[in-house]
Amino acid sequence: MDSILVTGNGPLDGQIPIAGAKNACLTLMPATLLSEEPLTLTNAPRLSDIKTMTALLQSLGAEVTTLQDGQVLAMSSHDLDSHVADYDIVRKMRASILVLGPMLARDGHAVVSLPGGCAIGARPVDLHLKALEAMGAELELKEGYVHAKAPGGLKGGVVEFPLVSVGATENALMAATLAKGTTVLKNAAREPEIVDLAQCLRKMGAQIEGEGTSEITIQGVDRLHGATHPVVTDRIELGTFMLAPAICGGEVECLGGRIDLVEAFCERLDAAGVSVEETEAGLKVARKNGRVRAVDVVTEPFPGFPTDLQAQMMALMCTAEGTSVLEEKIFENRFMHAPELMRMGAKIDVHGGTATVTGVERLKGAPVMATDLRASVSLILAGLAAEGETLVNRVYHLDRGYERVEEKLGNVGARIERVQGE
Ligand code: EPZ
Repeated sequence: MDSILVTGNGPLDGQIPIAGAKNACLTLMPATLLSEEPLTLTNAPRLSDIKTMTALLQSLGAEVTTLQDGQVLAMSSHDLDSHVADYDIVRKMRASILVLGPMLARDGHAVVSLPGGCAIGARPVDLHLKALEAMGAELELKEGYVHAKAPGGLKGGVVEFPLVSVGATENALMAATLAKGTTVLKNAAREPEIVDLAQCLRKMGAQIEGEGTSEITIQGVDRLHGATHPVVTDRIELGTFMLAPAICGGEVECLGGRIDLVEAFCERLDAAGVSVEETEAGLKVARKNGRVRAVDVVTEPFPGFPTDLQAQMMALMCTAEGTSVLEEKIFENRFMHAPELMRMGAKIDVHGGTATVTGVERLKGAPVMATDLRASVSLILAGLAAEGETLVNRVYHLDRGYERVEEKLGNVGARIERVQGE
């Protein structure tokens, strides 16, 4: 298992290219199941999660060819020879559940393993299942698998989400494109990844209105055709790398960064004394003067502050002047980075979904353990600003969501290297 060794090394300077969004790509890829014609994605990120989704689609009989060093995914699912998404793949990546809606919509049957929980929470899929039932699906849970049927195809219906769910909105949106009649998704998620999915589905011939708002209306069509679509910029990778100059000092330009993807996050950076400037090429970030100020953070569904940037923001607050209160309102157990940051000298008090951070002048490098994707990168950010060496273990979490992180940070002056594990 590889580790990443980071040595605190002062201000950063230079440019970091931002890749296509993992969480957009993981819902765009299953969309290939909705059509017998080819779907090609460009600007795809090169991540282990994309490889997992590729393997899942191939296990169903879809063809997925990666071109241009993984940045282009040429897919086609002319005919599927399996409709079973196996536990072995699904347990590795929860997003696998996103093949359920498309398979059911296309062929009227699907068998998908329940994903099981993960480090940050139980993460049930009940909202996915209820949405499909509202479209006429018959579901049966057997030995850890969802057996879904839609004899005669799915029918349009009204889906009222009791809470905002990105994945359930995506599953329902994809299924509704081929349902007979009109489907309305109420209290739908508004994330940019859903807007990106809707735009791709529309290119494939889907009739969708309202994406990006909390009510999406879909008029089902008989079939969808192929398309080519660029994956939207990854707002979480963007926010993560914007925090590097904020925590270390210096100035970094995030190429391809779009302010509309990170407005709530930028509002907090501004309050903390970090400047963000829109340039021709992206977003230029610098600390205005000296230590950042402590600010409070509450995670919310988009357009609120993203839960996927909470761990990274906590790392910054560990070195801020003053006390910051971070409230995690999306997942029930998303502070596992806190004890690891405390090993580096951070002062953090966790009570339920609230973490109170009292900033310290300087963190101290230490061996730490990555527990989930975003926690692992928050430890790297802390290591960039800490005195001495920080060894982040179990970085397979990191490789799920960040392509070549040591190269991107190394190119702007960070002292960071990957240590091959045994
Ligand atoms: C997506 O997960 C993202 N993953 C997550 O990013 C992100 O943290 C999350 O949305 C919230 O923004 C992908 O897009 C692949 P949800 P998802 O359904 O769809 C509860 C990362 O680091 N819920 O919006 O699984 C759930 O437990 C990952 O890239 C139900 O109760 O998130 C959670 O508390 C981590 N029943 C809340 O809703 C359901 O059926 C929001 O979950 C579904 C969800």
